[in-house]
Amino acid sequence: MGAFHANKDRQYHQNPQFSEQRLKEVQEIISHYPEGKQKSAILPVLHIAQTEFGWMSANVMDYVAQLLNIKPIEVYEVATFYTMFHLEPVGKYVLEVCRTGPCMICGADEIFEYLKKKLGVELNEVSADGRFTIKAVECLAACGGAPCLQVKLKSEDGIYKYYENLTPEKIDELIEKEWI
Ligand code: FES
Repeated sequence: MGAFHANKDRQYHQNPQFSEQRLKEVQEIISHYPEGKQKSAILPVLHIAQTEFGWMSANVMDYVAQLLNIKPIEVYEVATFYTMFHLEPVGKYVLEVCRTGPCMICGADEIFEYLKKKLGVELNEVSADGRFTIKAVECLAACGGAPCLQVKLKSEDGIYKYYENLTPEKIDELIEKEWI
């Protein structure tokens, strides 16, 4: 992933606004915190923003800052720290492959290479058919099923699905039958 530059993607998400229902949800979360401490709601609000807008452009992050009454930089520093927030457009399926020790020992490298070749993309790119983005993430707490990955549909609210003991054959089957 390239470094984040606040001004580079200003053409995306011009004037973002939550739907009425999402805005109510966000205001409810913010109301749990005392005046002046709205920043404490940043993680759930960022998750809602990503579900609504697909990824975290600078305009979306500025909108979140405005809702929380904090400076944009305070949102940038959180959103760029956690790999679950996408800083560039992503495909319908974001394949978040674990790259931490136990998964690497059990063949994560082979899985990365196989996926890149099969889908014709490098990490963080979107495949030509718009279906896939591959991301490298840290331990998914499923080391017993290494190598593994998690997937969340852009349109789903925070539901991740885990796939463990991955092999190239298993990936072929998932691409053909499940991630469609
Ligand atoms: S190291 Fe991959 S899930 Fe823990």
